[in-house]
Amino acid sequence: MATSTYQGLEVLISREQIAERVRQMGEQITRDLAGEKLVMIGVLKGAAPFLADLARCVSADATFDFVAVSSYGKSNRTSGAVKLIKDLDEPIEGKNVLVVEDILDTGLTLTFLRKVFLQHHPKTLRIAALLDKPSRRIEQIEADYVGFSIPNLFVIGYGMDFAERYRNLPDICLMPTESQ
Ligand code: IMP
Ligand code: MG
Repeated sequence: MATSTYQGLEVLISREQIAERVRQMGEQITRDLAGEKLVMIGVLKGAAPFLADLARCVSADATFDFVAVSSYGKSNRTSGAVKLIKDLDEPIEGKNVLVVEDILDTGLTLTFLRKVFLQHHPKTLRIAALLDKPSRRIEQIEADYVGFSIPNLFVIGYGMDFAERYRNLPDICLMPTESQ
């Protein structure tokens, strides 16, 4: 799968591949909205680059909001408990919501967020995840829009981190196993 490197890291998905797929996702979301307004809710911090790029490929009257969650623990394995550490700024009742997330892994984060958001009675609630690791799922949840489905690999770049580093890599790279 990986054919090139960036700063010595193996590139799994190149910036060109990301850009093309994000453009397609934006077109699909635009079609599905059928002219309605949208609130895009980014999950900090990892989804920030994806939201910024995706939003510019969605042709609609859109606003942004952001939430932050913590999953108790700094390691790359989700511990199970998810907590909201930054809530929405604006009400979403009666609105079309698109939750924008970097990666759907065990599904614990998005299952938690979906439950929280549904309590606010949005008109519609959809999920866009740039990456999906279906083999890691603990909670039964699927995104409405998935950029790339990947095997059980730890990835960094394009917003995704290892201990807060590497978020600014323009490509999605593989985390070297000896550093994990
Ligand atoms: P979930 O709750 O297990 O679905 O985890 C989702 C979160 O775990 C993502 O938003 C990421 O922050 C993090 N995560 C899962 N897999 C990776 C990875 O391969 N690289 C970086 N972060 C990851
Ligand atoms: Mg995240």
